[in-house]
Amino acid sequence: MGFYNDVILPRLCDLAMRNKDLLPYRERAIRAAQGRVLEIGIGSGRNLPFYGPAVKQVVGLEPATKLLEMARHAPHPETPIEFVEGSAEAIPIEGRSIDTVVTTWTMCSIPNVDRAMTEARRVLKPGGKLVFVEHGRAPEPRVQWWQDRLTPAWKRISGGCHLNRDIADLLSRNGFYAEEMRTGYMNGLKPMTFMYEGQASTR
Ligand SMILES: C[S@@+](CC[C@H](N)C(=O)[O-])C[C@H]1O[C@@H](n2cnc3c(N)ncnc32)[C@H](O)[C@@H]1O
Repeated sequence: MGFYNDVILPRLCDLAMRNKDLLPYRERAIRAAQGRVLEIGIGSGRNLPFYGPAVKQVVGLEPATKLLEMARHAPHPETPIEFVEGSAEAIPIEGRSIDTVVTTWTMCSIPNVDRAMTEARRVLKPGGKLVFVEHGRAPEPRVQWWQDRLTPAWKRISGGCHLNRDIADLLSRNGFYAEEMRTGYMNGLKPMTFMYEGQASTR
């Protein structure tokens, strides 16, 4: 599994995240970011081109060495970027120092996602925001049935991605108040494509 996880998986992840259908989601999310930004699970850096002048610094957190290396070589904005190897469950950043936490298609893959949300709350300044685009649990029981059955096998080949996480519930049970939340399917197979996007603040 070492070669698959260390070499093949990062390339597959980058390939999947190049999907052009994701671009409007990325653009909308990153437009809402401002100040000092922490991007959790920055991956190969596909959001970087969208950061504009409202953002003073981006801290890109990523546990996968190979993806972090790809992010370092991705097209960059003028904005200063600091790349940090680490995990969302133990964010190596002081508390109350971040204006915007960004997550795009990352909450599905974090092993202890509740712990990660607690950490996101800790690093956010009072009044700070979480900006998110995530795929997750669909509303229809028929699609949920498939999501629950596919997830155990899917997790093994996709770097731990869960198809069935209820993002609205995940946010609210961790003390985030969704100020904006849009949901709906994008193109593709229904178990993989129910999207949640929006902004949330801490209570
Ligand atoms: C589907 S990729 C999305 C990458 C990127 N956010 C994007 O939009 O292109 C999922 C990302 O979550 C990251 N990830 C997995 N477990 C993580 C953890 N514990 N902490 C932070 N990121 C994690 C993966 O390494 C990967 O970069």
